[in-house]
Amino acid sequence: MTADAAASSDLREPLERIARDIDASFDALLPVPADPRARLVEAMRYAAIGGGKRLRPLLLVATAEMHAVDRAAAVRVATAIEAIHIYSLIHDDLPCMDDDALRHGKPTVHRAFDEATAVLAGDALHAMAFEILADPATSGDPFVRIELCHALATASGASGMAGGQMMDMVAEHEVFDLPTVTRLQALKTGALLAAAVDMGAILGRVPVEGRQHLRGFARDLGLAFQIVDDMLDAEGDEAVAGKALRKDADAGKQTFLSLLGVERAREQATMLVDQAIGQLAGCGEEAGILRAVARYVLERDH
Ligand code: IPE
Ligand code: IPE
Ligand code: MG
Ligand code: MG
Ligand code: MG
Repeated sequence: MTADAAASSDLREPLERIARDIDASFDALLPVPADPRARLVEAMRYAAIGGGKRLRPLLLVATAEMHAVDRAAAVRVATAIEAIHIYSLIHDDLPCMDDDALRHGKPTVHRAFDEATAVLAGDALHAMAFEILADPATSGDPFVRIELCHALATASGASGMAGGQMMDMVAEHEVFDLPTVTRLQALKTGALLAAAVDMGAILGRVPVEGRQHLRGFARDLGLAFQIVDDMLDAEGDEAVAGKALRKDADAGKQTFLSLLGVERAREQATMLVDQAIGQLAGCGEEAGILRAVARYVLERDH
């Protein structure tokens, strides 16, 4: 069996299960109203249901389950983080950002609907994430709910994903050095991946001092993840990726790949994944899914 097949067989069942859970959760949370808002909710459902690898939900639920959290509660929180991720993709694809026509193998939301609907669907998914987290159905403990909201807000805003997206736009016409590109990637992609692990630990009531290895794991994983995304942009197969590729170089975007070249970028990603797995050295079998996600990040083809 190749390494690729080994990694995917470890994760096949967990990935399929989380995909089913997240689809069902969005389906239940997004009934289409019988009034003119129907178009908005249809666009949210179009973007949120039936697509994507669901890696952030998987990381969140796997971390929560390491700490004996009830799966249904973890899936609710995972739906919140995926709502933020989906909103970020809808906006990332807009003509004013990456101007993409294809996502998850189908037309992007602004192509299938229109730009105003796409902006609003992103806005509404953003709000929905915090509505889920603030709901007592997520956790009976208001301190847990507040901590979850704080973690997700920090990871999504100017100190996280949105800040990284701003740097990414600037990276098309300014020269960034390696530390600056590293920071860009850590914010744009790393912050939400790290929040997934952190929020799983919050649900499991792991104190901050007990989360250092998980944070280290997520930081290394996030950087490796974005290096691979950039390598797939340069070398991947569009039919498998379900999105347009060869966009970064055309846009003049600086990435690890443009700074390091393919060979060193791959070495860097491999080193980071080994380091991420090393952070879990003190954990036993219960961290098996996290380790498998780290290997999958390196070997994925989409
Ligand atoms: C794509 O993320 C956007 C980045 C942060 C690089 P994913 O590759 O996790 O997106 P999907 O949801 O699985 O398509
Ligand atoms: C998007 O990064 C990251 C976020 C949406 C936060 P990219 O622009 O590289 O993602 P893809 O390649 O379109 O999925
Ligand atoms: Mg982008
Ligand atoms: Mg993009
Ligand atoms: Mg990309």
